[in-house]
Amino acid sequence: MTDSDFAVVEFVLTALTYNEDDELDPDDLPPAYRTPFWSEGAIERPLAVTVDTVAKATGVSHPWEAVSGLMFTDYDDFTGEIQFTDRSMADDWYLDRVRDDDLEENPVLTAAYEGDRDVSYTRARENNRPARADRAFIDALLEEYFDDDEEDEMLDLVDVRAPEEIEMTLDDIVLTGEQEGEIQKIVKAIEHREYLANIGLREIGKLLFVGPPGTGKTSVARALASKLGLPSVEVKLSMITSQYLGETAKNVEKTFEVAKRLSPCILFIDEFDFVAKTRASDEHAAIKRAVNTLLKSIDEVSLIRDEVLLIGATNHPDQLDAAAWRRFDEIVNFPKPDAPMRADILEIVTRDMEIVDFEPEELAELTEGLTGSDLRLVLREAVLEALTEERTTLTQQDLVDAVADFEERDTLKNLDMIEGDHDALVAGGSFDNDGHDH
Ligand SMILES: Nc1ncnc2c1ncn2[C@@H]1O[C@H](COP(=O)(O)OP(=O)(O)O)[C@@H](O)[C@H]1O
Ligand SMILES: [Mg+2]
Repeated sequence: MTDSDFAVVEFVLTALTYNEDDELDPDDLPPAYRTPFWSEGAIERPLAVTVDTVAKATGVSHPWEAVSGLMFTDYDDFTGEIQFTDRSMADDWYLDRVRDDDLEENPVLTAAYEGDRDVSYTRARENNRPARADRAFIDALLEEYFDDDEEDEMLDLVDVRAPEEIEMTLDDIVLTGEQEGEIQKIVKAIEHREYLANIGLREIGKLLFVGPPGTGKTSVARALASKLGLPSVEVKLSMITSQYLGETAKNVEKTFEVAKRLSPCILFIDEFDFVAKTRASDEHAAIKRAVNTLLKSIDEVSLIRDEVLLIGATNHPDQLDAAAWRRFDEIVNFPKPDAPMRADILEIVTRDMEIVDFEPEELAELTEGLTGSDLRLVLREAVLEALTEERTTLTQQDLVDAVADFEERDTLKNLDMIEGDHDALVAGGSFDNDGHDH
């Protein structure tokens, strides 16, 4: 058996089954199989089984050649369609070869063969990424929502990521016990949201991440989206309110609309302290209105009803007022990492590297006060330094030196902030302006 004949047969069987059974919907199709059929945010029946669509869905570049040797296949020159001349022979051929685990990755075929094999359609469907998490669906939705030019610009301010595009995982992030507990709770709440709705428990699903820059707030929000297989809608408050004054309140509303339409999803609102700042100062009336709209929208969105998990983040909890705080039902603290956490972070960020005499605990002792983001920068410096000597293997000493460099640079940066003397830094040469904010 070559893999490509199997891949093509599986796809053709899936498309034929899907076309015959109206009960099935796009959420039953494996995500890759949906790719060639998206059109303006929808997938229409029948799915055409042409060499083009098969190639796109399976990655097999010459699909007809891959299956032309099989007894039950045929090719229509005119339409470009791959056909099965004997369906039951095709079924048997496929069932002889597929493993239960792999079959369950395909809800359409699991539904068709559930009686013959030890597989569950319910489970297959639950584990299949739904169509509304596909990039193509998200793009179509955004296009529908923000169609004129000004609204298009709004899209520069809202960052929508499909789960397939998120690389960050929770395993890449070192968490405190409290953070793990909170994440566990929210994962469970989402799994059991119907139950929560039934018992009338609705005050859940609004988290505020609080902590200094570089402590993993953005990373955790994204990793959560990836773990839950949900799209994430990210907005930075300063951005959303700084450019399109008159439209701002409307844009805030639209952001929430989009989140609701994409639901279930995560709506991540960064720089939440901006709210309090605006309320306190004599900002433009349009901004004040936008902030009030924001607060109202937060009140009106619900994890249980709308399936939108709201995560706010702030570097400046001291600037938040009561009106902002009380809108969140869980506050998750992101402290600077302690020594054991720093050692763990160093282990993680150096996972794919070779380091002679590596002793993360020793480095952890040397890096009091540094965040996860700082530790990444330290490592980057060490790597680049070593490369200047044509070395791709690091030593513990390289890292110790990089820590010293980092501390020196950090001191200079703080001086800079105090004196506001940017020229001094520029003249100094190779300093980063701000490594924190990614
Ligand atoms: N606890 C941590 N464990 C692993 N990596 C971390 C941690 N905290 C920060 N980082 C890394 O530092 C970088 C910046 O983190 P980020 O999530 O943007 O911080 P924040 O949003 O709090 O400013 C990311 O590359 C992230 O992976
Ligand atoms: Mg951030």
